[in-house]
Amino acid sequence: MRKQLSLVCFLAVAQLLFAQKKPITTPVYKDAKAAINTRIADLLQRMTLEEKAGQLNQLNGGVFTGPAVNDAGQMGKVQMVREGKIGSFLNVTGVKETRNIQKVAIEESRLGIPILFAFDVIHGYKTIFPIPLAEACSWDLPQIEINSGIAAKEAAAAGLHWTFAPMCDISNDPRWGRVMEGAGEDTYYGSLVAAARVKGLQGNLDDVSHILSSVKHFAAYGAVEAGREYNNVDVSRTALWNKYLPPYKAAVDAGAATVMNSFNVVDGVPASASHFLVEEVLKKKWGFKGLVVSDWGSFGEIIPHGYAVDEKDAAYKAISAGSMMDMESKVLVKYLPQLVKEGKLTMKQVDDAVSRVLYFKFKLGLFDDPYRFSDEARETATLFSAANRAEALKAARSSIVLLKNQNNILPLKKTSRIALVGYYAKSKEDMFDFWIANGSANDAVSVQEGLQARFGKGSVDYTPGYKADASTDDRLVSDAVASASNADVVIAVVGISGKLAGEERSLANINIAEGQVRLLKALQQTGKPIIVLVNSGRPMVLTQIQDLAGAIVQCWILGTETGNAVTDILTGAYNPSGKTVMSFPYAVGQIPVYYNHFNTNRPAPETGDGAWKSRYRDIPNNPLYPFGYGLSYTTFDYSGLQLSNAQMDKNGKVTVSVSVKNSGSYDGEEVVQLYIRDITASVVRPVKELKGFRKIWLKAGDSETVSFVLSGKDLSFYDGDGNVKLEPGKFKIFVGGDSKNTLEVPFELK
Ligand code: BGC
Repeated sequence: MRKQLSLVCFLAVAQLLFAQKKPITTPVYKDAKAAINTRIADLLQRMTLEEKAGQLNQLNGGVFTGPAVNDAGQMGKVQMVREGKIGSFLNVTGVKETRNIQKVAIEESRLGIPILFAFDVIHGYKTIFPIPLAEACSWDLPQIEINSGIAAKEAAAAGLHWTFAPMCDISNDPRWGRVMEGAGEDTYYGSLVAAARVKGLQGNLDDVSHILSSVKHFAAYGAVEAGREYNNVDVSRTALWNKYLPPYKAAVDAGAATVMNSFNVVDGVPASASHFLVEEVLKKKWGFKGLVVSDWGSFGEIIPHGYAVDEKDAAYKAISAGSMMDMESKVLVKYLPQLVKEGKLTMKQVDDAVSRVLYFKFKLGLFDDPYRFSDEARETATLFSAANRAEALKAARSSIVLLKNQNNILPLKKTSRIALVGYYAKSKEDMFDFWIANGSANDAVSVQEGLQARFGKGSVDYTPGYKADASTDDRLVSDAVASASNADVVIAVVGISGKLAGEERSLANINIAEGQVRLLKALQQTGKPIIVLVNSGRPMVLTQIQDLAGAIVQCWILGTETGNAVTDILTGAYNPSGKTVMSFPYAVGQIPVYYNHFNTNRPAPETGDGAWKSRYRDIPNNPLYPFGYGLSYTTFDYSGLQLSNAQMDKNGKVTVSVSVKNSGSYDGEEVVQLYIRDITASVVRPVKELKGFRKIWLKAGDSETVSFVLSGKDLSFYDGDGNVKLEPGKFKIFVGGDSKNTLEVPFELK
């Protein structure tokens, strides 16, 4: 017995001595040379369940330095970082703030797992680009990619790793404030824009100039009933597959790192808890390998939806559906460990989610250099650089849509004395929307500044005409009229404040305000030519002012370079080339109004008697301005639409060609648009569907033959189960400069 004991003691001592001699090895997860998956596996087996839940916890951050160090709430969050209970912050920005928190995570938490910093960089970080809806009106995919690239570059230079963009929600409802964040009403075009935005934001994620993107809001959030934010969605499966899902898919196919759940229900199930959406469609059908993040509080909000009884149940349902990171509702950090211990959730489910968070931290190089994105000199050099502003100007010019130009009152003559009217022509705050990241309205060029810089201060007489809330009074109107009487031309900026564009900015009334209409009527009495600029983050109902102006220019919300871009358009230094990607309703009661609707059982004739047809008694069916519409200072004539073959089999191709002539007197750009209609199919198809476009530049008097190649892919659609269908039958092919005025040829798929 004693012998045995001494042998055990000897062995223990030997082991200890041996252990002391053993060189201290770096854990595999910290070995930059090891493969990412090996590093993740190593790290996972070192993590406690609480630390895993922490990685899935994303909190609203804010400021942690300065007076904030005395703030109990903020210091509580810092303590959570120390304890490994936070995987990501949103709304902590700038090198100083992000570095400060990263240091705590790296140096004071047990495993030193870096934090991911996220922020809504929607259309620029410091250099503010046009709102995404406006940008989409450029039909310029390379420029759109550049714009997103600059937004990413600035954000990355400011310590950020991740943005919640692009929004890929198709919407037909301009009452919804968030239409400003998307690419309009068309699925085909929206898909191309989504992919361009993802590519611009992410690059290859192998440098410090790009950030992770998050495709949102998955899915169908753009279909919120009556355009009311956070409202319900109820769409058919065919609509889901054909109209709403393709842009998210295009973004995923373009490599989007993350996808955000939407707030709404789909088929009666909150999207965050939808096994169908997350597991079946996103992960299984589309093969998405990235991270799924909730929308703000959307895991917790499974409860008010009436789909979970309490927070624990909500946490369970979100993870069971395949969703992963919890933005702000804190239900995972509270209940995930318990749910696993009780056997309701498996460690495999948790590890799958956590490993996707860790993957991007490794991929961005944060384990090897946690301060890669924390270079103050780079931050200073990158933000709001002259080069970035030059791109923002290009983007803004090409976003503007010329809606009306009677008797060619535009472009302006160089010698014009201008009466500039409108509170929003000067108020920089109102030129900026809700999603301006760290942009500052003061950095922007107002319309007043832009015009004055070009025409001279003495030639631009400014009067506000109405107040901040768009109401007016006798004095404001008479001042504007007096100014107009002394001018050669009136430029009146109307619309709504940019602050009414974005989340939680739904409006039931999108008519031009009464005060502004009154102002325009008074200005019209002067007999001076009137040019109206519309400042708005959505298409507004312009019917009432349609006849009060000689020219109407839809300026949207253009960002930092507003005044310079508008001046370039008004003077003709840039010939307008934008085409609207959302229909402009004739009246609010017409909404939703969109070009790619179905035909109904009783289509109303374009003109003449519409009795007992699908129509309104008081207004036309057509929008005031259709999808794809926008004027130039020149004109384009279309002729000779033809097909290489009038029939094609399923594996074939057909070339569609058309001759486009610049028949006016300015060089200019045109967006040549190709639409199809599937006449009969196993499910009803839209009256027109965009399937191709080319933005061409033509010198005055020149012509070009524009060609498109269509294949089976362009003629196919989805059934209600998400299967691709390519069905023989008759089609129509249309080409034109907008969705309404097109040439047409028949075609058959054999
Ligand atoms: C919005 C998202 C946004 C998130 C984070 C939510 O309320 O719906 O689009 O990315 O907040 O700010």
